[in-house]
Amino acid sequence: RSDATTDYYEITARAATARILPGQDTEVWGYQGTFPGPTIESRSGRRTVVTHRNALPHATAVHLHGGHTPHDSDGYPLDLISPQGGGDAMAGMGGMSKMAGMPGMSGATFQPQRDYTYPMNQRAATLWYHDHTMGFTGPQVYRGLAGFHLVRDDEEAALGLPHGPRELPLMIADRAFAADGSFAYPALDGNEGKPGVTDAYMNGVLGDVILVNGAPWPVARVDRARYRLRMLNGSNARRYRLALDPQPPGGGGLLQIGSDGGLLERPTAHDTLELAPAERFDVVVDFARYPAGTSVRLVNQLGSGSTSEVMRFDIGSGGGADDSRVPAKLSSIERLDPAKAAATRTFVFQKSQNNWTINGDEYRPGRSLASPKLGQVEIWRFITDFHHPVHMHLDPFQVVSRNGDAPGAYDAGWKDTVDVLPAQGVEVAVRFTDYAGRFLLHCHNLEHEDMAMMAEFTTE
Ligand code: C2O
Ligand code: CU
Repeated sequence: RSDATTDYYEITARAATARILPGQDTEVWGYQGTFPGPTIESRSGRRTVVTHRNALPHATAVHLHGGHTPHDSDGYPLDLISPQGGGDAMAGMGGMSKMAGMPGMSGATFQPQRDYTYPMNQRAATLWYHDHTMGFTGPQVYRGLAGFHLVRDDEEAALGLPHGPRELPLMIADRAFAADGSFAYPALDGNEGKPGVTDAYMNGVLGDVILVNGAPWPVARVDRARYRLRMLNGSNARRYRLALDPQPPGGGGLLQIGSDGGLLERPTAHDTLELAPAERFDVVVDFARYPAGTSVRLVNQLGSGSTSEVMRFDIGSGGGADDSRVPAKLSSIERLDPAKAAATRTFVFQKSQNNWTINGDEYRPGRSLASPKLGQVEIWRFITDFHHPVHMHLDPFQVVSRNGDAPGAYDAGWKDTVDVLPAQGVEVAVRFTDYAGRFLLHCHNLEHEDMAMMAEFTTE
């Protein structure tokens, strides 16, 4: 539904049975009962309102990842949608909060449904929406609560990039399955929904089946033409190094055109792409560089055995003309000047006392670690012990340095999640804009996030 100013969507989170593995039924918790959920599309500058309802037995909160969104629609982890049956029942959640050393759910508010209002004052980009419930994001996303939200604008439309059936959003996510076909989330096994602190939970939950848009190792039949692949790492904790196998003659088969926050200034050819959880890479692959009949595998060089395969493209002979283009100049990106930063702040992501913390503190709702001023640029420095994909809400940032050196090969453009490897320091420049209120900074390893590696900042 649409009117003069706004596009409206209605989404209900519910349990449903999916056929993911051959011959087996898997219960998913999906937006509209599907995993991934329906893809939402917005026009830059045009408001989108999504009404979310919840037919699951647990509370939910929905965050638009990469959205430039006011606090009250940002999916704050205590702004909850009541589970089926209403009230504020928090079945299975109390134990989780205690485990993570959190002060429970005090301060939570419950509504039977929520209207999330997204102004969409932001450029074209590949966003995604997913669950963000206090202490329970990992298991709820693992069960399927994630979907794409694409923003389009005129600048991008004018470029002539591959589109329609040659534009493929690819949500890459690993899962493990129990013998009966259900998702095996280690911490939930035999534990009535309350996770125990096993190593498999502590370090982030990994699966041994790679799903792309909810299907294991799928095969896409493609023409000898350019395709735009909007890759999202929707995994709870797994990192990937993706490559085409075989590479096209001359290499550079993965032509990156965009990152988390939309188009790069110019296309950048890669042989491999490294994706941490929640990162997006917008890539054009020209299958005309291969002979008809070639099967091209998308492989994960960081995996082994079943996790080294992602999907396959079988190139047909037909398809007709390819009228798409990838211009040498895609967009212009204003550089945020680190020399003009109003403040530099350091956030240390580390394990302390068997929990994941930021600056030694477990997440506590309502405690703010920083109060940046709207309109100002700041440098935020992230220092880690382990691998932590660091994500900021509200505004995108630019990577300024990595370990004191120039940004890495995968840091270009506007980012909202940065892959910080063990014992690294990454500096980003960010300008806080438009919306005053409480927003989140956290690790996007979802088990780390649930285990309290999250903090609030308050823009003013
Ligand atoms: Cu993708 Cu705070 O989340
Ligand atoms: Cu982490």
